[in-house]
Amino acid sequence: MKPTNLSPIRVGLLGIGTVGSGTFNVLQRNQEEIRRRAGRGIEITMVADLDVARAKAAVGSGVQVVDDARKVIANPDIDIVVELIGGYGIARQLVLEAIEAGKHVVTANKALLAVHGTEIFAAAHRKGVMVAFEAAVAGGIPIIKALREGLTANSIQWIAGIINGTTNFILSEMRDKGLDFDVALKEAQRLGYAEADPTFDIEGVDAGHKVTLMSAIAFGIPVQFDKAYVEGITQLAAQDIRYAEQLGYRIKLLGITKRAANGIELRVHPSLVPAKRLIANVEGAMNAVVVQGDAVGTTLYYGKGAGSEPTASAVIADLVDIARLHTADPEHRVPYLAFQPDTMTQAMSDLPIVPMSEVVTSYYLRLKVADETGVLAKVTGILASLGISIDAVLQREADDVGGEGSTQTDLIILTHDCVEAKMNEALAQMQALPTVLAPITRIRKEELA
Ligand code: HSE
Repeated sequence: MKPTNLSPIRVGLLGIGTVGSGTFNVLQRNQEEIRRRAGRGIEITMVADLDVARAKAAVGSGVQVVDDARKVIANPDIDIVVELIGGYGIARQLVLEAIEAGKHVVTANKALLAVHGTEIFAAAHRKGVMVAFEAAVAGGIPIIKALREGLTANSIQWIAGIINGTTNFILSEMRDKGLDFDVALKEAQRLGYAEADPTFDIEGVDAGHKVTLMSAIAFGIPVQFDKAYVEGITQLAAQDIRYAEQLGYRIKLLGITKRAANGIELRVHPSLVPAKRLIANVEGAMNAVVVQGDAVGTTLYYGKGAGSEPTASAVIADLVDIARLHTADPEHRVPYLAFQPDTMTQAMSDLPIVPMSEVVTSYYLRLKVADETGVLAKVTGILASLGISIDAVLQREADDVGGEGSTQTDLIILTHDCVEAKMNEALAQMQALPTVLAPITRIRKEELA
């Protein structure tokens, strides 16, 4: 029997903004190819959106449009609910209700899954329905599928990703055009890259949600955003981007998760990355993720992390997966987080998230100091006394006071690896020196070798 004779699978959208309309358009445009791949048609038959007029304009007359998401969930003809509302509030309630109603769920909502994933996956497991979320991490890049399926042979060693386009755009603009942070942020908002509340982008929260999901899939641990270390780019100064460049590095906001001796590292912060690495050259709003597996070595995934059709590409990939697999026994489907749920808790629950104070990495430090004899010796003396080894030192006339006869100077130090707690101690001691004239800047450095 030809599988293409099956009736189409019916999809209800909750929210039809940028991603929803992209999903509708791509499904229409490529419907024949998608039908041949999925083995049956995939049709959006119902849409809920508070803005009914906008929704009707987006989908035309063949689709039922309502202003109440619960009508979609209650409709027995709907097989899959696509949640595109976002946030942790009503979206969580609706996803749980859809699962309870026996619907399969596709969501692009990284915040929801990073914070409430354990509850949602447990509910879906009980009901035997699928919850798919390719669009939640790095937009159109199929990184969830790569980690969960393509790299399944590997013991994953680490993942490092540029997984927030807004901040990567801002950093690129600051470096290329010498723009201030605020000006670059406004431009990112104008171009529609930033979240409705850009705080999630610039404070690293959005990247934190995404790396939390990748970490769970890579290491078979529960999603635990509350244990992630999250630091954004709001404190980055233009001169650090310039100094980093002079030393052969670019500054990127990285989401990092790593298998360490004492557990799993889970962190987001600005990082110096050697300019020669491919990921250091990912510019503008593009995303990229590097995954290191023990068998495959280093792999790199690059593409658009946001936008209407790139994100729709990921949503539809999930719809096709569900169309292919929803009739299979739940135990024969791919597990939500790559590891079978019951073995996951038993085998992996003893892998803790490493506190930031115990993370080992190298550092870039910038100190504004009085240009006097002995200052450098005092600073390097503190580092030496704590066993922190120096990799390179650069002295530059401070930008803001420069000129002949200046009595201040910028001291830039690159260190070798040390544990974060030691660096915190060194920073406190250096900051207390009367010759250190301003708060010290500390940026972590990742060689990604
Ligand atoms: N605001 C996000 C970003 C888009 O800038 O990458 C999708 O998560």
